[in-house]
Amino acid sequence: MRPSLISLVAAALVCAATLPQAAAAADARYIAANCANCHGTDGRSAGGGGMPGLAGLSAPYFVEQMNAFRSGKRQATVMHQIAKGYTEAEINSLAAYFAAQKSDK
Ligand code: HEC
Repeated sequence: MRPSLISLVAAALVCAATLPQAAAAADARYIAANCANCHGTDGRSAGGGGMPGLAGLSAPYFVEQMNAFRSGKRQATVMHQIAKGYTEAEINSLAAYFAAQKSDK
């Protein structure tokens, strides 16, 4: 039981090391799914309740807003809490992910 688990973990580490870009892209997609409840699938907001869409936001603007939420510089109802749950690297890959999504507008 134990040795096979160790080799499984080792194999996973080797995969992660050899496919860094694919892994980063997949990660951004999984993390972005956490935002879909409020901001819509892939950040395409249905527009209900004035919820801002994230699709097509420029990456620098996105990163700036997330940092402003984290620091409290930008007032928020929920985003200050949510933004604190992600690392800088995760925010950067989310920024690239949402910038690459086409907005409906
Ligand atoms: C519970 C609902 C909810 C979830 C989940 C959520 N957001 Fe938000 N988001 C909001 C609301 C509401 C605002 C408007 C600011 C506020 O009041 O917090 C907002 C605003 C934003 C803005 C600013 C948009 C602009 O045009 O200035 C960004 C960027 C953002 N969210 C990113 C994210 C990301 C990334 C995630 C997922 C990791 C996420 N949000 C998850 C509710 C949510």
